[in-house]
Amino acid sequence: GDYTGPYRPRVHYSPPKGFMNDPNGLFKDNNGTWHMYYQYNPTDVVAGNQHWGHATSPDLYHWTNQPIALFPPNSTSGVFSGSAVLDPNNTSGFFPNTTEGVVAIYTLNTPTKQTQELAYSFDGGYTFTPYSGNPVLDVNSNQFRDPKVIRYDDTWVMVIAFASEYVIGIYTSSDLKEWSHASNISHIDLLGIQYECPNLVSLPISNSSETGWVLTISVNPGAPLGGSITEYFAGEFNGTHFKPHDGATRLSNFAKDDYAGQFFYDQPISIGWASNWGYTNTVPTASEGWRSAMTLPRKNSLVDTGIRGWEMVQEIYDVSPILSQQLSFTQNLANTSTEASFNNGLYFDMNITFPEKVTFSSYASMNFTFSTNSTGESVKGGYILAGSTPYTAWLDRGKTSGFDSPLFTDKFSVSQVSPAKRITGVMDRSLFEVYVDDGAVVGTMDVYPTEPLTKFTISTGDLPEGAQITFSAWEIQDTWA
Ligand code: FRU
Repeated sequence: GDYTGPYRPRVHYSPPKGFMNDPNGLFKDNNGTWHMYYQYNPTDVVAGNQHWGHATSPDLYHWTNQPIALFPPNSTSGVFSGSAVLDPNNTSGFFPNTTEGVVAIYTLNTPTKQTQELAYSFDGGYTFTPYSGNPVLDVNSNQFRDPKVIRYDDTWVMVIAFASEYVIGIYTSSDLKEWSHASNISHIDLLGIQYECPNLVSLPISNSSETGWVLTISVNPGAPLGGSITEYFAGEFNGTHFKPHDGATRLSNFAKDDYAGQFFYDQPISIGWASNWGYTNTVPTASEGWRSAMTLPRKNSLVDTGIRGWEMVQEIYDVSPILSQQLSFTQNLANTSTEASFNNGLYFDMNITFPEKVTFSSYASMNFTFSTNSTGESVKGGYILAGSTPYTAWLDRGKTSGFDSPLFTDKFSVSQVSPAKRITGVMDRSLFEVYVDDGAVVGTMDVYPTEPLTKFTISTGDLPEGAQITFSAWEIQDTWA
């Protein structure tokens, strides 16, 4: 792939060429290598002709493109989304001579039906053989897809979407080949128009040795902000039934470019697709021969917030492998402003502490701007610390002119119950992500300036006496160089 185009993210994964959507089959192998497959059209820059592309990484940031892993059997079918599992005990019977077996479980999309199929790999996930007994699950539906399989005690458990019925089915199996229906969860909170890409995962609970369950459902179209988004539910799972703790809808992102996220097999680590079906097929990166990138990898946990119930926290996965030289900004940012230039992209980290007894002026805030060298375009964001809408993070991509589309809306915001203590962000050419309080709140936003954003200005104002804001930023590496 040619990764030199100015829209190409430097630390977020994007495909060598063509069109990419959902991450699929995420797993970590026994040598510690992370495998990511993805919905892939290798022959065009719009969705269609779905294959499973493949990339591997030692750290979830430096990716090596691998040969395509799964091909559709003919020109009218597509290999849709799904997951992968490790089968060291040969429960499937595919692996009499190896403990390195990998099984992919995916949807075969044909003009009349969506059925679930298996393909198995003897070489740790590089090449796959479709199972001769496919399909393994066929309910005669053309809206039945995206199997995500996990291990629960000694059983395989699948969650799968009956997309247009607003139902997530749970199935169980001892060998991945024969599946029994265990339960359905239906019409939970946000409906949108279709349910897609469910995930069921056990996550660590913050500050505890316990774990808790989360079900995620991706909804498209019909997200509150338009197009696609992912909602999640913390709850209880007993091997056959999932029960949410409460009936509240929680979204995994406050902007619009984070969809169809998947968890790595048996890991609390996830990656999402950093785009939106509302405009993904028309974004201007096609001029560089590719469309769509993934989100940063995230380390997820659950936190009991008390009256607001259980929330998922999506921390950026260890960023140390992507930091290049530190940039020379003023470190103490209380009631002042600082600016500097960067080349590839920028990672910033801001820590906020207030004195115990604090009186704010009516409007205290932090504001930042990424701007281009000569076109006057910019991407802005900030955090409102006091005023009529306190504890509010916001983003604005309105002053960029490389792309326009009715669903490509400009401004996003989210409010918290108490002031943020830490804000980190990554500007990566055509993608900006902000992580408030280590991922208690996350905003992922595609941006298309006509020239790279290479200048960063950040300021705070009207902070109370004794407030401390420490700020640092680094140039990010070009992982493709
Ligand atoms: C979600 C999705 C899945 C489907 C895949 C097809 O983005 O629509 O439901 O399997 O994309 O590429």
